[in-house]
Amino acid sequence: MSREQQKRQAAEAALEFIDESLTIGVGTGSTVNHFIDALAEHRIHIQGAVASSEATAERLRKRNIPVRELNDTGDLPLYIDGADEFTHHKQLIKGGGGALTREKIVAAASERFICIADDSKRVRMLGTFPLPVEVIPMARSFVGRQLARLVGEPRLRSGATTDNGNVIIDVHGLEIMEPIALERRINDIPGVVCNGLFALRGADQILVATADGVERID
Ligand code: 5RP
Repeated sequence: MSREQQKRQAAEAALEFIDESLTIGVGTGSTVNHFIDALAEHRIHIQGAVASSEATAERLRKRNIPVRELNDTGDLPLYIDGADEFTHHKQLIKGGGGALTREKIVAAASERFICIADDSKRVRMLGTFPLPVEVIPMARSFVGRQLARLVGEPRLRSGATTDNGNVIIDVHGLEIMEPIALERRINDIPGVVCNGLFALRGADQILVATADGVERID
């Protein structure tokens, strides 16, 4: 089974958690795109969706799924999103697609976060995937120096501007033994908006597409 087929399989597995009476949070990325497509193809008509990026909002609209603002909905019952890496503790690295800040906000505002991923994202220790950090542009060099001193090898993501008008620094060469402590430490650097560690608020459940079917990590 190809990687793309596995992403579709994980996305389809999330459908069983969807109730048409709900407005849900919808993340960003190719796995989530499969989820949006699956909702439409199975003719599941949810009340609405809060999107974690402009790209997701556009895809939802194309599929005739009403897009709502988090400021209007209040907290959400459910958030569906992918990940760049996950551990069996359900801690994640996210932000490969640059949407980490809005993803973290929607995840925090949701009662339940179901992560959908293919098996290639599974790791024993987070950090092989470069950790994205969203940074206010005028603080770019300062934050880069702080990250180099504190944690690893920062590299500015070339040509990337987030939906919030900020830049992204990817931190390479990490072996993250204490994800919660590192998430807090990076957030404490002035100029950092958010980082891609989802450890303080990890996933509640991960649906992992494997060669043998979908595994659930509860
Ligand atoms: C975007 C993300 C995505 O969830 C992550 O990059 C996974 O993407 P994909 O499903 O395309 O592999 O965090 O900011």
